Amino acid sequence: MAIMRSVVLKAPIAGLPEPGDFTFADSDIPALKDHQFLIQHAIVSVDPGVRSRLSATGASYAPPIPPGARIDGFIVGQVTDSRNERFPVGTWVTTGGGWASHSIGDGRGYIMPLPDNGLPRSLWLGILGIPGMTSWFGLKRVGAMREGAHVLVTSAAGVVGATAGQLAKAWGAASVVGIAGGKDKCDWLVRECGFDAAIDYKGTDDLAGAIAAASPKGVDLLFDNVGNAMIDTVLPLMRFNGHIVVSGQVADYSVPHDQRAGIINTAEFIAKRLTMRGMVVFDDIPQFAAAQAEMGAMIREGKLVYREELFDGLDQLPEAFCGLFTGANFGRRLVRLGDA
Ligand SMILES: NC(=O)c1ccc[n+]([C@@H]2O[C@H](COP(=O)([O-])OP(=O)(O)OC[C@H]3O[C@@H](n4cnc5c(N)ncnc54)[C@H](OP(=O)(O)O)[C@@H]3O)[C@@H](O)[C@H]2O)c1
Repeated sequence: MAIMRSVVLKAPIAGLPEPGDFTFADSDIPALKDHQFLIQHAIVSVDPGVRSRLSATGASYAPPIPPGARIDGFIVGQVTDSRNERFPVGTWVTTGGGWASHSIGDGRGYIMPLPDNGLPRSLWLGILGIPGMTSWFGLKRVGAMREGAHVLVTSAAGVVGATAGQLAKAWGAASVVGIAGGKDKCDWLVRECGFDAAIDYKGTDDLAGAIAAASPKGVDLLFDNVGNAMIDTVLPLMRFNGHIVVSGQVADYSVPHDQRAGIINTAEFIAKRLTMRGMVVFDDIPQFAAAQAEMGAMIREGKLVYREELFDGLDQLPEAFCGLFTGANFGRRLVRLGDA
């Protein structure tokens, strides 16, 4: 019988994740039932939001991942066996197949056959996948993005942040400023992604002062991927009727809930009539295809750029993931298991 290999959690994680927190499990690939199909994974993603589900007390919209269970991740793969006529053998798909060599789908939930748009299939895990959709709908639906807005993006060199900043520019932002760790990331944001300025938060003791200097008129739209301390720093710099998009909390995921920074500058909400709103991008699935078609065209025209970091082999997944929380990644981290 054929075997599938998965990466599983050893025990709930406290603090920053380490590769030793994960182990591997082999299991038989079961016989397919009606409507099921087998997907052989070619590329697997590592996603920072998964960290919030690896502690004993998860604080996520999705349940904690228990010890022994496969870690969640998105995949691009090909159907190699099928009892579902909508997904015949040979179909390329993207879905949440997890950190594993194979998964079994039944066509329900987040799964998409991949159109041939002339772009690498890996993009369905990055700029055209869940991260890119987070940027698009975070700005448009949650952040009420409008022409002339002064936009600030945090964790700006990540795929969500870099894409959000570029889309904001394309949609007529008056200014786009990014915050990222290190000179290389900041240089890339300005030179390649067209940000007006980028702030290296690791290189300043006065982040609020640096933001005020880079965005002297203030901030209409904060697209935040980092967490409470960042939002609290930016609140006094928000403009009247400003919007804060709570996309992610990468600085907070590894910190126990009772030790996280709070937000104290709440008086700004009253004085400036601010709106802060969280998002879960899966709410926007019915609108993904139209956004993906527009973004695909922008990529082909050179109007949107992206970076990827490719690892090879299932055993690299833990290391690829852990680097997300030290700033080691520079672009979307993906692990290649086969040709795509
Ligand atoms: N709400 C939704 O539906 C949704 C969907 C998908 C993703 N997200 C969220 O979107 C965010 C960005 O995702 P992504 O895939 O593009 O990942 P990402 O931004 O590349 O995340 C990793 C980066 O986070 C930064 N980081 C790590 N620890 C930090 C800390 N303590 N303080 C500040 N920055 C830190 C590092 O960049 P530096 O080197 O710049 O520090 C690191 O390279 C994540 O928070 C994710 O959870 C939300």
